[in-house]
Amino acid sequence: VRVVVLAGGISHERDISLRSGRRVADALASHGLHVELRDPDATLLGSLTDDRPDVVFPVLHGASGEDGTLRSLLEFLGLPYVGSPAAATRLAWDKPTAKTLVERAGVPTPHSITLTRDAFRELGAESVLAVVRGELPTPVAIKPAQGGSAQGVTLVDTEEELRRAMVHAYTYCDVAIIEQRITGTEICIGIIDTGDGPVALPPVEIEPLSGVYGFEARYNAGETRFYAPARIADDVTERATAIALDAHRALGLRHLSRIDMIVDGAGTPWFLEASVMPGLTETSTLALALEAAGHDVGWVYAALAQAAIR
Ligand code: DAL
Repeated sequence: VRVVVLAGGISHERDISLRSGRRVADALASHGLHVELRDPDATLLGSLTDDRPDVVFPVLHGASGEDGTLRSLLEFLGLPYVGSPAAATRLAWDKPTAKTLVERAGVPTPHSITLTRDAFRELGAESVLAVVRGELPTPVAIKPAQGGSAQGVTLVDTEEELRRAMVHAYTYCDVAIIEQRITGTEICIGIIDTGDGPVALPPVEIEPLSGVYGFEARYNAGETRFYAPARIADDVTERATAIALDAHRALGLRHLSRIDMIVDGAGTPWFLEASVMPGLTETSTLALALEAAGHDVGWVYAALAQAAIR
């Protein structure tokens, strides 16, 4: 089987993608696949058209990899690829849209307000603060509506911090969300489907030593403690697993995803976001979950590639 692993790209998460892609490529190669690792550039379309690999594994994080653009291109070329279809990817990538879709499927997600940069400018910070005060008293989280790896995300405790956090979020995206912040245990659940239907991996608990699971805490070894499986009660694990599978299905995802949640003090898991190409670096939770479940990571990636070809 000839597989092209795409990694790098031009998003804010380029470096993470290169790390994830290298690991996926090595794992696939160790399972006997013929692997070409490529950083997509302007020559990609021509070379994929000429070479026609059996399958493409787009390990691209951030825009173009996770916003559906590249996947549309692969569909246009008629090339099988690992991961969610372009249309579903587009929906899941946009946090407000994803939250609306999962909520309709009965999955709890924190209340939020979505605001474009222009609307923020027009209304002015004071009016926005008044709305937030009425609907979503602090603490809140400010997030770019699109993007990963917690880039542009700020946890806000006071009204004064909110204005700066909004401006920061708008440096990543023209749309930002102000989201009610639930305090509790942060967990994520990886979903894998190698052809027999989606299966949830054990939940991984995230305990950032700084208290905030930001970019540094995600990718610097030792800055976050991970517990796989999470230290949560069995009934909470069951509920979270059901919610993760519901969210994966509600968003129409395929092959693999990671659903991020927070479990509140009463044991209710709240959907935060879905990742259609979760990080697969050495400190990424999906890889930890696969190991915790006793899976050989390379075997799983190879099985995903086979599933995409079928
Ligand atoms: N966006 C990063 C890679 C993640 O979700 O893991």
